[in-house]
Amino acid sequence: MKQIVELTINGDPQSLAVEGHRSLLDTLREEAGLTGTKKGCDVGDCGACTVIVDGQPVNACLMLAVEAQGRNVETVEGMQQSIDILHPLQDAFMRHGASQCGFCTPGILMMARKLIEENPDPSDDEIRFGLSGNICRCTGYTKIFDAVRSAAAEIRAVRA
Ligand code: FES
Ligand code: FES
Repeated sequence: MKQIVELTINGDPQSLAVEGHRSLLDTLREEAGLTGTKKGCDVGDCGACTVIVDGQPVNACLMLAVEAQGRNVETVEGMQQSIDILHPLQDAFMRHGASQCGFCTPGILMMARKLIEENPDPSDDEIRFGLSGNICRCTGYTKIFDAVRSAAAEIRAVRA
């Protein structure tokens, strides 16, 4: 039996009919049509499904959609600053070749955005630690870390 969940996704109020056992991940992808958030393991191990809920990173595969009632959910689709302006992290990932198959990329972008918001000048160790819950099966970690470091510097320069 479905129930109505009212939540905000990337700033848009949404009302979705979901079954009680449905994960937020499946609901975002299949009910809201937001397929940017990826399903890797579906058990909380890989971080591919990372979204931001009320300002905190969450593995969307581990959260029921009904738990998102009344909450503010941000996905990778909401990162772009406008139709033709990428978020500095997205731009840096492109410039540094930090995305190979790209499956891990949305989750890493969301986690990296949160990391930089909380720590605008992260050390290499802090970037590694901050992204330690996000697995890249293509193992392109060096370029990912380079991109995060570059985006953080760019954001600091804009704000200076
Ligand atoms: Fe959610 Fe892997 S799909 S942590
Ligand atoms: Fe392929 Fe990370 S780029 S999983």
